[in-house]
Amino acid sequence: MDRAGQYEDLKSEIESVVSGETYVPARYASAACLLSLAFSPRFFWTGFYIVDPIKPSELVVGPYQGTLGCLRIPFGKGVCGACAAQGESIIVPDVHAFPGHIACDSRTHSEIVVPVYDASGALAAVLDIDSEQPDAFDEVDRSGLEAICRTLLTA
Ligand code: SME
Repeated sequence: MDRAGQYEDLKSEIESVVSGETYVPARYASAACLLSLAFSPRFFWTGFYIVDPIKPSELVVGPYQGTLGCLRIPFGKGVCGACAAQGESIIVPDVHAFPGHIACDSRTHSEIVVPVYDASGALAAVLDIDSEQPDAFDEVDRSGLEAICRTLLTA
């Protein structure tokens, strides 16, 4: 099966696992687990940074799979902060060439960050996926992950 098909299957699986569950961290945790399992070892770190409801200009780490992630990322900082500020997905083929990249784990070479919106259209979180491989992510990942993120807070 090609990767686009894998993403479609994964989206259905995630939807059926989280269906009826209203506690958002449980939905994020299930998605992080299934994404990480499906695409390991290409996905080295898979998880969510959530918009802090107390300090909405900052992201705070949420459910993830992988090595220790940094706890807080201000909007505008690093790839996650840039995604939160712009509200659009970002693919970074080489993190060392990205100004202000936050190196939580020096093994990370490339990453993709996708915004997660709530039903009202407000940014709720970003999904951050890092890889040890250079240039690991492409448009198939972007559209597959965006489709999954669209279902996470609205299903
Ligand atoms: N890669 C992120 C930081 C978070 S960790 O790598 C888990 C960034 O630069 O936004």
